[in-house]
Amino acid sequence: MNSSTSPTTTPAATPPAGQFSAVADVLVVFGITGDLARVMTFRSLYRLERRGLLDCPIVGVAVDDWTLEQLVKRARDSIVATGEVLDEDVFTRFAGRLAYVQGDFGDDATYERVGDAITGSKHPVFYLEIPPFLFARVAQGLAEAGLTAAGRVVVEKPFGHDLESAKALAVELHKYLDEAQLYRIDHYLGKMGYEEILYLRFANTILEPLWNRSYVECVEITMAEDFGVDDRGHFYDPVGALRDVVVNHIMQVVAAAGMEPPSGQGREALRDAAVTLLRAVKAADPANYVRGQYEGYQKIDGVAEGSTTETYAALRLEIDNWRWQGVPFYIRTGKRLPVTQTELRVVFREPPPVHIGLSAGNDRGPVRDEFVVKLDPSTGARLIVDAHRADAPGPEAITLDAEFADEGGEGATPYEVLLRAAIVGDSGRFTRQDLVEENWRIMQPLIDNPPTVHPYAPGTWGPAIASTLVADHGGWQGPWIVESNGGAK
Ligand code: BG6
Repeated sequence: MNSSTSPTTTPAATPPAGQFSAVADVLVVFGITGDLARVMTFRSLYRLERRGLLDCPIVGVAVDDWTLEQLVKRARDSIVATGEVLDEDVFTRFAGRLAYVQGDFGDDATYERVGDAITGSKHPVFYLEIPPFLFARVAQGLAEAGLTAAGRVVVEKPFGHDLESAKALAVELHKYLDEAQLYRIDHYLGKMGYEEILYLRFANTILEPLWNRSYVECVEITMAEDFGVDDRGHFYDPVGALRDVVVNHIMQVVAAAGMEPPSGQGREALRDAAVTLLRAVKAADPANYVRGQYEGYQKIDGVAEGSTTETYAALRLEIDNWRWQGVPFYIRTGKRLPVTQTELRVVFREPPPVHIGLSAGNDRGPVRDEFVVKLDPSTGARLIVDAHRADAPGPEAITLDAEFADEGGEGATPYEVLLRAAIVGDSGRFTRQDLVEENWRIMQPLIDNPPTVHPYAPGTWGPAIASTLVADHGGWQGPWIVESNGGAK
């Protein structure tokens, strides 16, 4: 029995058939004058419009005293600023969908006005691009105005800052909303590479039978970023790498890499498979956790003097089930590392010696096979196998690569995928409260007993001590990067 498993406050919720999953007839964006809308939302909605995938009105709500013309101008400027080449016909169609409601989120009259603006709507989707402390107030306003009976509410991370606060936030939201109508965004669930991990794993007979403790030595997940915290000091310093990207984004990759094949076809099947895996992950051990902070971090505006916040985190997870017992899952992430690349790497066990094609005295053993899926910024799959070309002096590891951009052209961005999923009611693209709580449970010991933070020089692979974590399994491998992205490796 897995003693580290703890019950969650919220049982996995199966949505009542149809009630909360109907296609939306209006999208209401709270906080539409804010930063996330400027850098992400307008562009994503515009791209959906261009692809013919947007078919409902969009109502923006914010405290700013704006006219509709100002909103349309903000939309245009924001889209152009992201580098999109604006097609005027597409933009005219998109702008024609927009409406604006001004109001304070603490004022009941705001929700009356929102109600007026969406009169006749049966299945509204409310997207809250607002700070989490306002989630419950807006949910309350919407519910009390009678707007949530058959609607959905989409919220952005963070979902708490530890297990207790994540539970408390859910309790607040569940006063007004059913779990089945809450869509929590983790943009990793919209990444092409994330879905590819699942698809490649379960759609290929040559992979799945080997994907277990009999053949896998270890699993390594790297999320490297070559940029720093820059102008996000106020946000980042109370958060740090573990809360910013490990407990959410990277754990989605752990779940995708480790889960059993989803059972059944329903939208919840994937999330059920993910939570089953997470329940088997042992609570992380601070003895297998390395924290780092890049030199210069403390000079950033918004960072506290003497801050011990980690900008680098490396850790080892263990999974207590039949598939993964004894196979470590290593995670590393950091800011100001040498490159920007996120990948999943499955390292297979070393085969026995092979005495073929070796010159006398050469006792080289075959290298371990590896299977890599890279998720960001480019996506692709790589198989590393040991091979011997007839004209080569001896065997060597060779790589079989597929860049997904070469296979299918430009893919949708994560926010396009997620906004579309919110509109059509695809709950499987969002994280669920039981998953959120399992992730916090796993990370809680690292939050309660954080080890010392080690400095590292910008542009390096973090504190040297992080290599001791993986020393028994051949060290950190990769990441796989293409030449245009910082030199082949
Ligand atoms: C965000 C974090 O959630 O994810 C950032 O707040 C991080 O710090 C980003 O850089 C990474 O996302 P992506 O899609 O660039 O890998």
